[in-house]
Amino acid sequence: MITIAPSILAADFWRLGEQVTAAEEAGAQRFHIDVMDGRFVPNISLGIPIVEAMRRGTSLPLEMHLMIQEPERYVESFIRAGADIVIVHQEATPHLHRTIQLIKGHEKKAGVGLNPSTPMGTIEDIIADIDLLLVMTVNPGFGGQRFITSMLPKIQQARQLLQRCNAHCELEVDGGIDSQTAPLAVQAGADVVVAGTAIFADAAGPQGGLRRLMQAIR
Ligand code: DX5
Ligand code: ZN
Repeated sequence: MITIAPSILAADFWRLGEQVTAAEEAGAQRFHIDVMDGRFVPNISLGIPIVEAMRRGTSLPLEMHLMIQEPERYVESFIRAGADIVIVHQEATPHLHRTIQLIKGHEKKAGVGLNPSTPMGTIEDIIADIDLLLVMTVNPGFGGQRFITSMLPKIQQARQLLQRCNAHCELEVDGGIDSQTAPLAVQAGADVVVAGTAIFADAAGPQGGLRRLMQAIR
């Protein structure tokens, strides 16, 4: 069973509530919320008030993708705002193990993201402690980028690592996912796919985008 996590970064923020409800009705299983600080990535996106608003508007799990330096400074604020899953980047925190324990101490799921240039080996020592491993298939910071196909062997490598060390951990991919690339990512071993543009910028609206994606990976 593959989970689709719509990234609201590509939504029309003027009509956010409407679009989130449409995605939920079309079968979204969780929402992916991209937080950018203009430091870890060269862009600034959204923050705590949006998470609070999302929490009021949907009962689906909210997954935070924290593309921020030293995410440990904000973990508790995002959990208080309504996060269910908190993903931090391996590259952004010097004490990754402590940050994971902080998230899990609040009984929330802990995820770790890897940029395209970060080797899998850098998280081997903490792999047994996490609930979600995120393999980035673009350089984080912007929606609408092209899927980096050379990440497919890395997704396979991640799947093998999880089979060996943490069979319950989800394997998520994020960046450039559409009806062409989603099947490749799934075939390589992903069980959660994030998609922004392919869902919210679809000409047929979020329902149409989500359906197309579901059909592609069925
Ligand atoms: C990129 C973000 C992604 C982004 C995906 O830095 O982490 O979640 O929203 O957008 P698309 O699906 O348009 O590549
Ligand atoms: Zn993301």
